[in-house]
Amino acid sequence: MKEDIHQYSGENIEISYNVQRCIHARECVNRLPAVFNPDKRPWIDPDNADVADLADVITACPTGALHFERTDGGPEETVPDENSVTVAPDGPLYLHGDIEITTSDDETLLVNTRVALCRCGLSENKPLCDNSHSDTGFQADSSIAEDHEETEAIEREGTLHVVPAPDGPLLFDGAFELHGIGDDSTVWDANAALCRCGGSQDKPFCDGTHAEIGFSNEIQSDQ
Ligand code: SF4
Ligand code: FES
Repeated sequence: MKEDIHQYSGENIEISYNVQRCIHARECVNRLPAVFNPDKRPWIDPDNADVADLADVITACPTGALHFERTDGGPEETVPDENSVTVAPDGPLYLHGDIEITTSDDETLLVNTRVALCRCGLSENKPLCDNSHSDTGFQADSSIAEDHEETEAIEREGTLHVVPAPDGPLLFDGAFELHGIGDDSTVWDANAALCRCGGSQDKPFCDGTHAEIGFSNEIQSDQ
């Protein structure tokens, strides 16, 4: 995974911005334009807002491109008790919670509270989303199949482990709430294989299509 992290220091807060993880969801720009202004250099000015408001907006960055550390002793970002996976229409999977992504060899790739994972199959920064879904016109609704059975009686706390299977789906191990955007369907799951090749007919779940279409987790040009 590529990383390009920039730091912005304010009087009460240090902000880090990972360029590779920003998919221009514009949560920050829309909510605090005095701080986040893509037309200015530097584009982040941490002292142009109340530090608590700034921390709130950074915590709402769905990809984890933005993070902060308070230097005034104020509260840091908290890890939610329960993990959630939000299926974005025509877009990625947004994970929020206690998230750990590892390789199938158990090598840790990322530990974070907010992550956007590619589900169109075309990101050049897999398993992370790099906004390729927009450029390529990926289309997939965000509903969860009604016949998907909820995992019952699971402990709803704990780390959500995610393994991007080589040339295959995202394997989730740990409790999480799965839901779409603008869709009431919500299920609790504990183990699931979610599609990241873009080809499943049962999205967001894997249906084995990745093998038929020869999906590769290498970058787009190698598929
Ligand atoms: S909220 Fe996060 S992903 Fe969206 S534009 Fe800001 S930094 Fe980028
Ligand atoms: S990863 Fe897409 S069908 Fe398995």
